[in-house]
Amino acid sequence: MAGLTGFRPCDALIAANLSHAVHLPSSPNYPTLVNGSWTTETQRSPWCFVQPSSSAEVSKTLQALHSAGGGAGDWHVAVRSGGHGSDNQNSITNGLIIDLTYLNATTYNAATNIASVGTGSRWGETYSILQEHGVSIVGGRQSIVGVGGLLLGGGVGWHTPRRGFGCDRVVNYEVVLASGTIINANASVHADLWRALKGGSSNFGIVTRFDIEAFPAQNLTLARRTVSEEYTDGYIDAIVEFANLDQSYWDNAINSVTSYAPGHGITMTVAEVNTANDLNTTAFDAFDRLPALTPSVRQSASLPDVANVQAPELKDKTPRVGGGPTTIANDKRVVRYLFEQHANLVADLNSTLGANNFSTILEFQPLPAWVADIGAQRGGNMLGLERSRRNKLYYVLGVTLLTPASQDKAAQVYQKISATGEKVKAFSKSIGADEEFIYLAYADAKQDPLGSYGAANVDFLKQVAHKYDPKCFFQRRVPGGFKLDRVG
Ligand SMILES: Cc1cc2nc3c(=O)[nH]c(=O)nc-3n(C[C@H](O)[C@H](O)[C@H](O)COP(=O)(O)OP(=O)(O)OC[C@H]3O[C@@H](n4cnc5c(N)ncnc54)[C@H](O)[C@@H]3O)c2cc1C
Ligand SMILES: *[C@@H]1O[C@H](CO)[C@@H](O)[C@H](O)[C@H]1NC(C)=O
Ligand SMILES: *[C@@H]1O[C@H](CO)[C@@H](O)[C@H](O)[C@H]1NC(C)=O
Ligand SMILES: *[C@@H]1O[C@H](CO)[C@@H](O)[C@H](O)[C@H]1NC(C)=O
Ligand SMILES: *[C@@H]1O[C@H](CO)[C@@H](O)[C@H](O)[C@H]1NC(C)=O
Ligand SMILES: *[C@@H]1O[C@H](CO)[C@@H](O)[C@H](O)[C@H]1NC(C)=O
Ligand SMILES: *[C@@H]1O[C@H](CO)[C@@H](O)[C@H](O)[C@H]1NC(C)=O
Ligand SMILES: *[C@@H]1O[C@H](CO)[C@@H](O)[C@H](O)[C@H]1NC(C)=O
Ligand SMILES: *[C@@H]1O[C@H](CO)[C@@H](O)[C@H](O)[C@H]1NC(C)=O
Repeated sequence: MAGLTGFRPCDALIAANLSHAVHLPSSPNYPTLVNGSWTTETQRSPWCFVQPSSSAEVSKTLQALHSAGGGAGDWHVAVRSGGHGSDNQNSITNGLIIDLTYLNATTYNAATNIASVGTGSRWGETYSILQEHGVSIVGGRQSIVGVGGLLLGGGVGWHTPRRGFGCDRVVNYEVVLASGTIINANASVHADLWRALKGGSSNFGIVTRFDIEAFPAQNLTLARRTVSEEYTDGYIDAIVEFANLDQSYWDNAINSVTSYAPGHGITMTVAEVNTANDLNTTAFDAFDRLPALTPSVRQSASLPDVANVQAPELKDKTPRVGGGPTTIANDKRVVRYLFEQHANLVADLNSTLGANNFSTILEFQPLPAWVADIGAQRGGNMLGLERSRRNKLYYVLGVTLLTPASQDKAAQVYQKISATGEKVKAFSKSIGADEEFIYLAYADAKQDPLGSYGAANVDFLKQVAHKYDPKCFFQRRVPGGFKLDRVG
């Protein structure tokens, strides 16, 4: 055996004959691996990376780490698929990162109509491979985002109104348990784990492969419309009207982004998508009546092509302050209140930071009531959305600090965003328009998305976690992300 590295868990991996997959800080691949997390904030330098390239190697990895843990030692493990999670979800300094990017095969079985997707895949490649087979699946809207974290948190895509969350279409998970045992979890075998993984995130094991029911690929139509601040009232009406359309409109989806940017003031941009390739859909009429700042042409494109059109607000990897999701009832009064609070926040930051030192984002997505029914029909997920039978919206409010001087004020800005959020919560509560659900895949470390699934689901999830991971490896040794043992 090669000389000891001084890092106990890394030594254990080398001793388990995984040295070809272990990258110490001296490895030429190490800087690129550090870079494998999406934002500069999550790019950490661990003791080592391990890059398993099969579920058997994931199994070897977990077995080696299991027995490396004896005695004291404040070291931990982070698990990373695409690396788009925030805070400590996918990276760590005092310990090692299990990087799953080599588990990135996508295959399609026409006889069963099942797409098998490795957890380390990116949506762009997966969609392109499936497109060659004439099929698609429900997943992320941006090609660069990872498959694993998105599906384990639920997974919202353009097809969600019609076909449910990404997790609702997973018919089988291949999972490596903390013991190293590799199992399948589906409706007939380990059905409790199958259900728990639909929203339960990183509490049970490492998922190596998702088997997903596919549907025929079809082009989407996409238009992006930008509207100036003077049409705010009409724009708010349009959001609420759209989010109240009945189920016959389920081929239509929007994503609304209101933002302040230096030199542009506040503008509102809606992405209008029809997943049935209908260029004449009337679903967006309320938006389309508002004068657009730049001409917006509705175009037909394949899903891989749509996923490659990077939304402007995603080009910048500068960490955002705030930005955790909140769900509200689809109620015009709350949406109007929120837009007012956003404008107040902009005015406040303008005077405290200066007009050129920040930008904001207030993003809205509808969550139609019937999406909960789709989940239930497909075996039930953990999100608990069936508790409230009304149309909802979820939003994120965040601020990007554009200069080093303003970045020093991040904590102060967070406080302002947080105060704004609390005001909106209090207002929505006062009119009965508040909602409990917190979308895990968007959540930040200060939130409790698992707790938002409701007490019954939390109890079930805890039971399943302790059954499949009796020694609590994922609760204790893998602290990043959202952990059931921390839910009250
Ligand atoms: C630019 C951008 C666009 C986005 N677009 C969408 C969107 O359209 N729809 C949507 O729903 N969400 C979207 N998101 C949110 C996205 O779902 C989350 O960021 C998600 O965490 C991404 O998954 P990942 O594999 O890249 O992340 P990672 O950070 O690698 O993983 C996230 C969490 O899951 C855990 N995890 C990952 N893989 C496994 C595994 N195989 N087994 C056990 N635990 C695992 C990790 O430990 C971590 O805690 C977007 C995010 C960004 C930054
Ligand atoms: C060690 O790993 C190599 C390649 O990864 C493999 O060829 C070899 O058989 C393994 N040896 C043992 C003892 O597992
Ligand atoms: C890290 O990523 C940035 C862009 O995201 C790139 O410019 C840089 O070369 C990368 N560094 C390494 C070591 O891969
Ligand atoms: C899988 O990852 C490897 C290594 O990053 C890459 O070379 C390959 O193109 C990827 N395959 C797919 C299907 O994305
Ligand atoms: C469920 O798991 C069992 C046991 O591994 C397997 O035989 C079966 O094919 C799986 N079902 C699905 C739908 O994948
Ligand atoms: C859309 O309308 C145009 C004419 O306005 C018509 O030619 C076309 O067939 C319509 N497309 C669909 C999908 O209905
Ligand atoms: C589908 O979109 C592609 C571009 O992504 C385009 O070339 C093609 O013409 C479109 N097909 C249809 C039927 O609209
Ligand atoms: C920002 O402040 C300046 C000067 O106080 C003012 O002229 C400008 O209109 C403000 N901009 C916004 C968006 O509030
Ligand atoms: C704001 O930007 C100006 C330059 O545009 C700079 O001089 C000033 O220091 C910045 N202030 C903060 C708080 O970032």
